Amino acid sequence: MSSAVDPAVQSLLQQAIDVSRHAYIPYSHYPVGAALRARDGSVYTGCNVENAAYPATICAERAALVKAVSEGRREFDLIVVVTRNGGSPCGTCRQMLYEFAPALRVVIADLAGRIHADQPLNELLPLGFGPIELNK
Ligand code: THU
Repeated sequence: MSSAVDPAVQSLLQQAIDVSRHAYIPYSHYPVGAALRARDGSVYTGCNVENAAYPATICAERAALVKAVSEGRREFDLIVVVTRNGGSPCGTCRQMLYEFAPALRVVIADLAGRIHADQPLNELLPLGFGPIELNK
């Protein structure tokens, strides 16, 4: 029997699933949705947006992050990421999130709402390089 999901996670999970429907994925056909919660409770969503010049693609997590930072948010405590199979955030997204929230709670789920992982970002990116390193 699975334990009840915390309501905050459940809410972001639904938002991540919903936004994944906007994914622009003509090349990979792999939709990703992310919902990022700022410390003030506001939530920013993002989907992956691909490009014919493949490396120009932006991932769902970074889409959510740049939306949030563009709206003045810089502190975050939770992100929920959904893919069809529970795929984990890429290295670039881990690094971008680490800049603002090394201890961010990262919940990874699938499009059916099943949770695959729930752990702090600094476990997904051990010994990460962040702003503090530049001031040592
Ligand atoms: N993708 C994300 O949106 N987030 C990740 O962290 C991993 C990969 C996207 C990029 C591309 O559109 C598709 O998934 C396949 O790599």
